[in-house]
Amino acid sequence: MRFILLGAPGAGKGTQAQRLVDAHDIVQLSTGEMLRAAVAAGTDIGKRAKAVMEAGDLVSDDILIGMISDRVTEADCGNGFILDGFPRTLAQAEALEVMLAQKSLKLDAVIEMKVDDALLIGRITGRYTCANCGAGYHDENLKPKVAGICDNCGRTEFSHRSDDNAEAVTTRLAAYHEQTAPLLPFYRDKGSLKTVDGMADIDEVTRQLNDVLALG
Ligand code: AP5
Ligand code: MG
Repeated sequence: MRFILLGAPGAGKGTQAQRLVDAHDIVQLSTGEMLRAAVAAGTDIGKRAKAVMEAGDLVSDDILIGMISDRVTEADCGNGFILDGFPRTLAQAEALEVMLAQKSLKLDAVIEMKVDDALLIGRITGRYTCANCGAGYHDENLKPKVAGICDNCGRTEFSHRSDDNAEAVTTRLAAYHEQTAPLLPFYRDKGSLKTVDGMADIDEVTRQLNDVLALG
């Protein structure tokens, strides 16, 4: 199974992708995670992306298209993948079509996670992750079962993303509306766009995603 989770910053792409990976035995390809790993490792791509990401702008199409093109043919993608955060511009969407056709791969769905902007800021500023295993949490909406201890690995150190501040979030939302939202009519016209209510609670969004995926 191969599909795109399309949604604004804080829409719940990463949260749901983590759940769908386990349920469907597929991999999550988060371009944000890949870029953060490149920044942390100090690679050439990381050096080029760091300031752009911290400001909340989009990294160049060339870098992203190259990264995904290399990644989708790796062995762990054989059973399928979730594209989380890619494509994010029309140029990326068009490049994805070409790249998948060349590799004889097909997308099963493009799923919009629809959330009002007013909700997104609170979701992003309340978000934190386990510094050890990366499990995601939220101050209000998704707390660990025991305060201060990761449910997944039992560690007690957590971190916040450097782009999860009010200024960068405003820029990220503007980038979404200007550069990513045009992908909605692009995929709608192709008949591949499905929509789930990203404002529902986390379990309900998972249910809606599984319903959409079961229909193919
Ligand atoms: P990226 O890492 O992709 O960030 P993003 O798109 O801004 O999205 P987020 O990760 O912030 O949100 P999410 O939808 O995953 O939400 P989450 O599940 O965590 O990209 C970062 C940067 O990298 C970009 O700004 C750009 O610079 C660069 N980049 C990446 N890809 C690129 C590309 N293709 N082209 C160019 N540049 C690129 O949820 C958020 C919080 O809400 C969590 O705390 C969660 O617990 C909570 N929550 C989730 N769902 C619910 C719910 N249903 N109800 C209540 N709370 C919920
Ligand atoms: Mg994410």
